[in-house]
Amino acid sequence: MGLLLATPLARVGRAVRRVTGDPASPLAGRTVLVTGASSGIGEATAYAVARTGATVLLVARRADELDRVRREIEETGGRAAAYSCDLTDGDAVDALVEQVLAEHGAVDYLVNNAGRSIRRSLELTQDRFHDFERTMAINYFGPVRLTMGLLPAMREQGFGHVVNVLSWGVQMKAPKFSAYLASKSALDTWSRIAGRETYGDGVTFTNMRFALVRTAMSAPTEAYAGRGATPEQAAARVLRALEDRPLTVNTRAGDVGELVNLLAPRLSDWMFHRFDRMFPDSKAARGD
Ligand SMILES: NC(=O)c1ccc[n+]([C@@H]2O[C@H](COP(=O)([O-])OP(=O)(O)OC[C@H]3O[C@@H](n4cnc5c(N)ncnc54)[C@H](OP(=O)(O)O)[C@@H]3O)[C@@H](O)[C@H]2O)c1
Repeated sequence: MGLLLATPLARVGRAVRRVTGDPASPLAGRTVLVTGASSGIGEATAYAVARTGATVLLVARRADELDRVRREIEETGGRAAAYSCDLTDGDAVDALVEQVLAEHGAVDYLVNNAGRSIRRSLELTQDRFHDFERTMAINYFGPVRLTMGLLPAMREQGFGHVVNVLSWGVQMKAPKFSAYLASKSALDTWSRIAGRETYGDGVTFTNMRFALVRTAMSAPTEAYAGRGATPEQAAARVLRALEDRPLTVNTRAGDVGELVNLLAPRLSDWMFHRFDRMFPDSKAARGD
């Protein structure tokens, strides 16, 4: 029952802290693991989390970039540790879990942010089944394996919160993103069900359905040039989700898209088909 009040209480806590001038975040002194911390939203999230007084565990493949982020955090008085890991390698994820638990004990907060987006039409995907496999590998199997590894210690200590960085496309079902959005939807659904099972142990999940963010990931699509939130704005929303622990964080446009899908599915197909024709595959998707 206590969890029913978790999000409203977190919001009251934030308001009280603002009024009393107490800057302490519920993350202060906690351990927060952020995947994909070597660039983009994950990097910005790592800095934001470190500023709360939490210890940030940085995970991604590029060790040099992780070291750069770790040094930046330490130089500004924060605490961080870097772990190079390919999250598509199951054995490597298991080894990461073992090392993290040995060095830090239970992880209090996990941000499943590492990911890969593919925007490519079905025509161009015809001979590329690996597009489906590699999006599932990093956007679904990787975070599920990592979360499963860290979950028993969270349940044992009676506290844990997992934030998944997903996309508004899971509500919209946008054309050309079939591989990407199916993998993000899989994590969205898995986490919702996992949260129902871990509810009694104080372990909660937030599915964040982000709109466009200006990062290396969105850069190859010409139609997105100069659009979207900055990584810092996205990180501020992740931080808030860590502190407030809501079930989902949606955009208004995503909610409208979901509603139209529900109430007028054929109309929604017609509209999205028109968008599909208006915005062709990018040069990167065509391999030019
Ligand atoms: N940008 C957008 O418009 C947008 C919108 C909605 C959702 N998102 C989601 O936001 C998340 C972050 O993306 P971003 O936009 O910040 O792009 P980004 O700068 O390209 O970040 C992707 C991160 O994932 C890590 N990563 C990729 N493959 C990995 C692997 N096999 N093992 C471990 N780490 C891996 C990368 O690090 P290494 O290369 O060092 O491994 C990098 O740190 C993704 O899940 C993405 O789907 C992005």
